[in-house]
Amino acid sequence: MFKFLVPRESALGETRVAATPETTKKFNSLGCQVLVERDAGLAAGFKDQDFLAVGAKVFESEDLKAWGAADALLCVQAPPERTLRSLRVGALLVGLLNPYQNFQLASSLHSAKLSAISMELLPRISRAQSADVLSSQANIAGYKAVLRAASNLDRYFPMLMTAAGTVQPARVVVLGAGVAGLQAVATARRLGAVVYVSDIRPAVKEQVESLGARFIEPPDLPDRPSESGGYAKQASEAFLTAQRKQLSDHLAEADVAICTAQVPGKKAPQLINEDMLDGMRSGSVVIDLAVNQGGNCAGTLPGETVLRKGVKLIGESDLPCTVPNHASLLYSRNLFALLKPQIKDGVLQLNLKDDLIAGCLISKDGEILRPDVITPGGTV
Ligand code: NAI
Repeated sequence: MFKFLVPRESALGETRVAATPETTKKFNSLGCQVLVERDAGLAAGFKDQDFLAVGAKVFESEDLKAWGAADALLCVQAPPERTLRSLRVGALLVGLLNPYQNFQLASSLHSAKLSAISMELLPRISRAQSADVLSSQANIAGYKAVLRAASNLDRYFPMLMTAAGTVQPARVVVLGAGVAGLQAVATARRLGAVVYVSDIRPAVKEQVESLGARFIEPPDLPDRPSESGGYAKQASEAFLTAQRKQLSDHLAEADVAICTAQVPGKKAPQLINEDMLDGMRSGSVVIDLAVNQGGNCAGTLPGETVLRKGVKLIGESDLPCTVPNHASLLYSRNLFALLKPQIKDGVLQLNLKDDLIAGCLISKDGEILRPDVITPGGTV
């Protein structure tokens, strides 16, 4: 019987789990077995009993036989090397393997002769939407970023008419209107803020306006970055200088800036510099979701709140982990959606001709298929 193994995540601060009782039941109904490490789902609100009730087997961490019996390991973040070494040759690893920055990964996969699917590399075509973990997790990040901003702001978000007089709504500037940015716009609008949005992809304007926000047109320069496959390309320094100039006025009047602008595989564009921060109101808040990619805002640090001349700079790198139950629910459904078509008669066999699999399979039995992204000197 084909066996999926679900480990208790070991990365610092990781609270999600790669399978839930719901997806366990679905894998079972396809004739597969799910082995769950003890307490793997606890931080996300799923007890061992919940997994047992739908037919999973719960195993102890020290049970080397269980690790060795797995045909595929479903994880959120890449497990430590010792875990990879305990898997059998040819086993499949599926998760957010961080292929642009985890330079240890290639050698670990190679020496343990493992296959690996890196969910970040799933092609973003319509057929892949139900398996798109970047979208499901970015949605959560965008939503939670606004709540973090609201709880750190020294003002209300909505306009209020009270007996003590009228309070004006908060002004929120969202930088980057991809998945996280659009969810931030929708959440900030629901809380009653006035929202302005900057993005360099023209397609975004209509989406932003349909959510009731105002679009800041990008600088009208000949070297405006193009896009490919729905993604923005990297902007030139001259373009970014013009964009920063344009954003300065908006930020000077803003209460909150939510930074989500990114270019896949590249350093995030710096859209707020020190001078622009000097112009921001004391008491305002910047939430930088791009902090792990170098940050959209000067001075933000991953996981830290820096108070700079009265402005709170909050570097948020793991917001989905603060909503672990729903984050796991959606993430596990994404994995199931990708893997289900690959399971025939209870056995998972990857169809390498399937565009989705070919796009995100980075290793086959230890042979590295995408050295461009997982070796030093690659894309990053
Ligand atoms: P992302 O996280 O890579 O980037 C976020 C946003 O930053 C993008 O909208 C980008 O245009 C913007 N950006 C880059 N440089 C900027 C700058 N200098 N100033 C302002 N904004 C800047 O992108 P994400 O959220 O992962 O997805 C982006 C797009 O990918 C979506 O809007 C959609 O078109 C496409 N997509 C397609 C999917 C599918 O069909 N399966 C699923 C999800 C996304």
